[in-house]
This record gives sequence, C-alpha cells and structure tokens, in this order.
Amino acid sequence: MDKLVIEGGRPLFGEISISGAKNAALPLIAATLLAPGLHTLRNVPNLRDTRTISRLLESFGACVTSAADGVMTVNADNITNLEASYELVKTMRASVLVLGPLLARFGRARVSLPGGCAIGARPIDFHLQALQKMGVRLELAAGYVDAVVDGTLQGAPIFFDIPSVTGTENILMAAVLAKGTTIIKNAAREPEVGNLVEMLQAMGADIEGKDSDLLTVRGVSRLKAVDSSVIPDRIETGTYLIAVGAAGGDVTVNNCRPNHLPSLLHKLRSAGLTIEEGDTSIRVVRNGPLKSVDVQTRPYPGFPTDLQAQIMALMAMTDGGLSVIHETIFENRFMHVAELLRLGANIRVDGRSAIVKGTGGFTGAKVMATDLRASASLVIAALAAKGVTEISRIYHLERGYDNLAGKLRAIGARVQQMPE
Ligand code: EPU
Repeated sequence: MDKLVIEGGRPLFGEISISGAKNAALPLIAATLLAPGLHTLRNVPNLRDTRTISRLLESFGACVTSAADGVMTVNADNITNLEASYELVKTMRASVLVLGPLLARFGRARVSLPGGCAIGARPIDFHLQALQKMGVRLELAAGYVDAVVDGTLQGAPIFFDIPSVTGTENILMAAVLAKGTTIIKNAAREPEVGNLVEMLQAMGADIEGKDSDLLTVRGVSRLKAVDSSVIPDRIETGTYLIAVGAAGGDVTVNNCRPNHLPSLLHKLRSAGLTIEEGDTSIRVVRNGPLKSVDVQTRPYPGFPTDLQAQIMALMAMTDGGLSVIHETIFENRFMHVAELLRLGANIRVDGRSAIVKGTGGFTGAKVMATDLRASASLVIAALAAKGVTEISRIYHLERGYDNLAGKLRAIGARVQQMPE
C-alpha cells in the first residue's frame, strides 16, 4: 500500500487538465453490454474503478481494450456469463449498473448485493422495485440478487422517492430495450445521467427529457455499437478549484465544463475567491482572506455531496468564521472530520450537520484516508498545511482521481507517493 507525503504551505500556480468523469465512465462502460459490435469510448479516466468495471465486463465474456490516451473499446458479442461476483461488486458498488443492461439484452442476471459502504447504508431497493414493475422476478439468496425477466421486459411508470443517480441509469438501460414506454419521474438530473442518455440515443434508443427529472423512454427492438465520449469530471474539477482556494495561488483548470458546477462556483465566489469561467476552463485565484459560507448538499444542480468533504476543509481554514455544512444525501459522510481534527481543524458534528469554526490554517500530521472524497479533503488540507502531512491508504484516491500526484506536482505542489 502507498502513502502520499505532502509538504504543504506552497501556493499553486499554472494549469491543470481534467480527466473524464468516473461517474459517467462507469454507466457508459456498462451500457456497451446493450449491443453487440465494437464500442469505442473516449476520454475514459485511468482509475481503479474503471479498471474494475472492465474486469467485470471481461468476466461476462466481453473483450475490453484500454489505451493510454483514454480510448477504450468493448466488444460484447460473446457474453457467456451473467453473474457479477461478490469479489468484484464488494470493491465497487457501481457494479450494480450491469443489472439493467444484462436484463434488457439477455433477460437474466445474477448480481451480488453491494453491502455496506463507508458513507452510509446505500441500499439498491429503488433499482429493484423499478425492475419488478418492469416485469423482472427477483430472488435474494446467498447475498445475490437473482433477476429473471418474466416473459418480456415491459415499459412501466417509475417514480423515485429520491432522485437516485445509478437508479435512474439502471432503469434507463433496462427501458431502452423494453416493450412499450417507461416514464421515469423524479429522475436524477446529474450531468453523468445526461451523458448516458446521449450515448443511448446514439445507439438508437428513443429517449425524451435529457437533463430533466422526467424521462420518457420508448423501447426499441435493438441497439447498435457506437463511438462515445465521457464528459469531464466535475468532482475532480471542483476538488482542484477548492485545493487552490485552500493553498492559495492562481490556477487555470482546463478541459472542464464550468456549467456543470453552478452551485460550487457560487459558493467559491461567496468564499472570497476570484473565479473566471471560460467555455471549457475555469481560472481560480485567491487574493484575499477566505470567508465562511454555509453549504447543504442536494441533488444536481444543488451542491454535490461528492464535494462536501473538500469544501469542509476549505471552511476549516477561515479566520474564525463559522460555517454550517449540512449533508442531506448520505447519513454517514463525515468520516473526514476526525482526520481534519488531527490537522488542527475545529469541527463539531451534530447529526447530519457539521459546525465548522475556522482556525486560520492546518498543521501537518499523519492521517488516514477513509473513502474517496474524504481522502480528497485530506489532500486539500495537506496542501495548505504548515509542515509535512502523510496520508496513508491512498488506494481510495486511486479509485477516483486520475494521476492526482502528477497533476498537483505540475502546479507546484510538493507531493510524493511512496510505499507505507
Ligand atoms: N437510495 C436509496 N435506495 C436506492 C438508491 C438510493 O435509498 O435504491 C438513497 C441513497 O442511500 C442516498 C440517495 O438515495 O441517500 C441518493 O443516492 P444515489 O442512488 O443517487 O447514489 P448512487 O447512485 O449510489 C452516485 C455516485 C456517488 C454520488 C451519488 C450522489 C456513481 C457511480 N456514484 O451514487 O458517487 O455520491 O450518486 O450524487 O455515480 C463518489 O464518486 O465518490 C460517489 C460516492
């Protein structure tokens, strides 16, 4: 296992380039299961999670190639196994995204239940209830969901109590080949769902309502293989913007979509940072004191839960300011708090709220990464901290940040990756 050693307190300057979005790449890769032929996916980030889902597809019999330039090809002509094993699913919950496409094309699938995770219980009951409405018979046994389509997969009206991102994606992928019309109400509007809708439309699917909370899918009898691109990662973008806010400096983040970060950019401006938006770039400059802002995580276009830990690190650095950070999406997403305290933060957790009192800065210490975004918040704190911070268990970061240490070094950070 590797650790990151960060010598903090150095402002960051220069340019950084954003990779493809993890949470868009995963459903796009899963969607290749829907049609035979050779699919090409571009801008696929080089991450542990994209490698895991590739291995999952290979375990079904698909042929996957990945090149260093982010081009992935998938040929799903010869699918011989329809079981997603516990060994793969336990390392990545998003493996559940294969359920919809396998049922749509082959009428059956056996997928391990994901189990608990570091940020909350995260059930998949919405996915399963919606599939049942579409005519899927489910049995839960030995930790697996055995799913079989009774006759033909049928379009159905679906309502999500909470707009679930992977739930919406799974049902979209099931509905495109179902008989009849599926209407998904209270669908997730995250840009990653829109990226999947675009790919499915290019494959020949009939979907209306992209980027809205009402998706209408008229099933078609077959889809074709396509050439698609993964959108830039808005969470990676946000993480680097916040890092510059914390460490200070002047950085231009390239190859990103400023319009995918409305809530974060608003908060960063309110926090006193200068933000200049281009079409595909964002310049961030810190040239004054940080101000505290309150944050509530919400489904898109609200403030993303995947940036909650990172903005908390920034708020912990104000000069005595008070910020209330309320997490509404996941019930246990404050694992970073105890580690930020080790770096000198003053944060009190009360249920789903964290009350953050700025201490003016951090001091380096040894800390431990607990989940992907919690780890990113520790990197941000470490970049700003006086002295040296050692972050252990960085395999979490490798799940979602492509070449994190290299990108940070390119803007002047002192970051080394070494064995623990
Ligand atoms: N929920 C249920 N039942 C379900 C599905 C969801 O109760 O069947 C609840 C969840 O427990 C949560 C809420 O609904 O309280 C929303 O969860 P959602 O289903 O939207 O989350 P997800 O699809 O499992 C994706 C991202 C997460 C991101 C969330 C929220 C992917 C692969 N994962 O998860 O990303 O935090 O949406 O935006 O797209 C990350 O990248 O670090 C990450 C955790």
